[in-house]
Amino acid sequence: MTETRRIVLSSDHAAIALRQAVARHIASLGFEPVDIGPTSPESTHYPTHGAAAAHKVASGDCHLGIILCGTGQGIMMAANKVKGIRCGVCADEFSARMIRAHNDANMLSIGARVVGEGLALAIVEAFLTTEFEGGRHGTRVDMITDLEG
Ligand code: RB5
Repeated sequence: MTETRRIVLSSDHAAIALRQAVARHIASLGFEPVDIGPTSPESTHYPTHGAAAAHKVASGDCHLGIILCGTGQGIMMAANKVKGIRCGVCADEFSARMIRAHNDANMLSIGARVVGEGLALAIVEAFLTTEFEGGRHGTRVDMITDLEG
């Protein structure tokens, strides 16, 4: 039996509804969503939530992570400060496949004010169902890791 993949989800206030829709969708695909909030619509700070999700991935508690804010940009920048994290913002399915296949991204960021729910769910599905190709791409990913010092 293959292990159910745990996917951590987090966002700021700008993306709560979309994050919850993503959680439902990935559960329907057979993944285990680990939704760490927030649930309150009060204004909050995306670095806190990006870092919290990133630590769940970096520690190995979750296999992959999906984070969201208004643009997807700020929360991605915060997540990428955590050692071992490779997070890309995607607004299209092709990029979501490629950050897995070529960059071995372990986190995906989405802008809830950029893409609608239908496209967001398709982006998430592309990300979660694509495997890293390795080979020459592995060499380049190792070079990224080396930059962490
Ligand atoms: C919040 O208003 C907004 O700045 C945030 O969600 C995000 O877009 C930042 O990158």
